[in-house]
Amino acid sequence: MSAPAGEAAPRFRPRTDVPRLIAHRGLSAAAPENTIAAFEAAEAAGFAWVEFDVMLSGDGVPVVIHDETLGRTTDGRGKVAETPLATLKTLDAGRWFAPQLAGQRIPTLEEALAALDRLGLGANVEIKPARGHEAETGAATARLLAERWPARLAPPVVSSFSPTALKAAHAAHPAHDYAPLFERIPKDWAARMQALSAQALHCSAKRLSEAQAREVTATGAAIRCYTVNDRAMAERLFGWGVESLFADDRPT
Ligand code: G3P
Ligand code: MG
Repeated sequence: MSAPAGEAAPRFRPRTDVPRLIAHRGLSAAAPENTIAAFEAAEAAGFAWVEFDVMLSGDGVPVVIHDETLGRTTDGRGKVAETPLATLKTLDAGRWFAPQLAGQRIPTLEEALAALDRLGLGANVEIKPARGHEAETGAATARLLAERWPARLAPPVVSSFSPTALKAAHAAHPAHDYAPLFERIPKDWAARMQALSAQALHCSAKRLSEAQAREVTATGAAIRCYTVNDRAMAERLFGWGVESLFADDRPT
């Protein structure tokens, strides 16, 4: 999107403390995604930040999980949004990945924050609402982060694919550092960032072109791309001015 003639392009001023590589869902190549073990693996591998996904349990508690359904990453069945926390907590979230990681649980967001504090890890918290629960997930996540984010850590980046979740999060706590998340960058990306006072956008590496990257970074905005495990692709994206990459492990 170019600025109309005579109108200055918006200027963004992103923070400078977000690392170049962020462990995606924790270090998800080395440990079951979105578990405390994956955070520990990220820290052990020298990552300074992790990304993880937050959804609400059936009784409205923010928990760390990617899929709306339990079958892929736990030994449970059914929908996260229809399962109370007490039941979620009985499920094994590690055995599917490796037998020796059996016993990992779905962390609550609160438990995840305590682990980040213990490990000294920063984070991109992705609000990942189940369909139909966008606004409540956004608001609950933003509130809990405002109350419980560890004071010793750099502030989190809060992202989502869901404009409704981001709007509700922003209304609940405008001061978080928000970043809209796109599969493909839309024409109105700058307006969507401005509505959240965002200074960065997150997008799929596969769908990004060099021209788009240059257009966005020319405004000062930062781009962070998922999911990049290939070193040649990482170097290409950094060459286009992309600031950070989400990776399941160090790109090889
Ligand atoms: O937040 C970046 C990335 O995690 C978005 O995609 O599906 O892995 O949550 P997904
Ligand atoms: Mg994610």
